[in-house]
Amino acid sequence: MLNVKSDLILNSVGELICAQQMQNEHTILIVDDEINNLQLLKRTFRGKYRILTASNGLEGLETLKNNIQDISLIVSDHKMPIMEGTKFLEEANNIAPDVIKILLTGFADIDIITDAVNKCNLFQYVLKPFDPDELQEAVKNGIDKFDLVSSKSLILKDLKELFYKTIKSISSALDAKDPYTHGHSLRVTLYSIILAKELNAPEDQLEMIETAGLLHDIGKIAIPESILCKPGKLTDEEFVVMKSHSLNSEKLISSIKKLNEVSPGVKHHHERWDGRGYPDHLAGEDIPFAARIIAIADTYDAMTSTRSYRTALDHDIAIQEIQKCAGAQFDPNLAQKFVEIEGIIRAAKDNPEEFYTRYSTLYKEITR
Ligand SMILES: [Fe+2]
Repeated sequence: MLNVKSDLILNSVGELICAQQMQNEHTILIVDDEINNLQLLKRTFRGKYRILTASNGLEGLETLKNNIQDISLIVSDHKMPIMEGTKFLEEANNIAPDVIKILLTGFADIDIITDAVNKCNLFQYVLKPFDPDELQEAVKNGIDKFDLVSSKSLILKDLKELFYKTIKSISSALDAKDPYTHGHSLRVTLYSIILAKELNAPEDQLEMIETAGLLHDIGKIAIPESILCKPGKLTDEEFVVMKSHSLNSEKLISSIKKLNEVSPGVKHHHERWDGRGYPDHLAGEDIPFAARIIAIADTYDAMTSTRSYRTALDHDIAIQEIQKCAGAQFDPNLAQKFVEIEGIIRAAKDNPEEFYTRYSTLYKEITR
């Protein structure tokens, strides 16, 4: 006969083997306040899934938070003390919207279900007393849906990564055309997203500004190097050719549907607040927000970088210039904000790669 100690050892070994066998399986969280129901539910799913349990909604939320990477599906009773099942699933949905939720409920609660379907993003409800086969089928279908959604998100993430790496390579290839503009597009993008973020621009706008920043000068690919890299002042004719780059940039990206919303920021980044810019002489708030942001970032970087025709200006002088041109060349409010955050801009200028990974929305999306 085995003594208590041996039983414990065997039990741990058994659990270890079991855990190893199921390490590639899904984890489900079962929440029920009645111990007998909890045991029955555990028996129903034992060996098929890794099981976590909680005896009330609060405990369930804590378990969910602590195991958010592992849990694929939740089965919750409705009638529970402390927190009702629908309330628990609603809160769980805020924490983990992709996790599948199944509610166990009595027939009398059927009215609650309709409301719960939307509020909790409920996948299915199962009436109590439940039929184990019916519940197993519901859980299996839920797990299948979870896998489908997960694989779709992975594909979307891959596509986003491909898109991001492509536009970043294109922008680096452009910068490489002229050694004096090496890193220009990335720095313009960096200053633009810092300014936009400090202005509390919404997330989708940040992503759009970032893409526009990376591609704003893409039309320079069509400008002859004799003009692009000319050490001296451009002639009037050469300046006309140079100015065509913003329209060329727009033409190049307008053929890509995904970049449609980025076009205005790219096309108008050389417009001026007073209407004396190009290509369309837009003025004031007629100039798209992204273009007004990029215009400041672009000018700051042009001033603080060494070019073929002059050496770099000091950061403080460039900031004074931005301030001087507020209301004439630049949107006065945006220019004022840029001046206010000049400490961050200076630090970003000295360490662009580090600041870029900290501020970039696109980078965060593909690395999270
Ligand atoms: Fe430009």
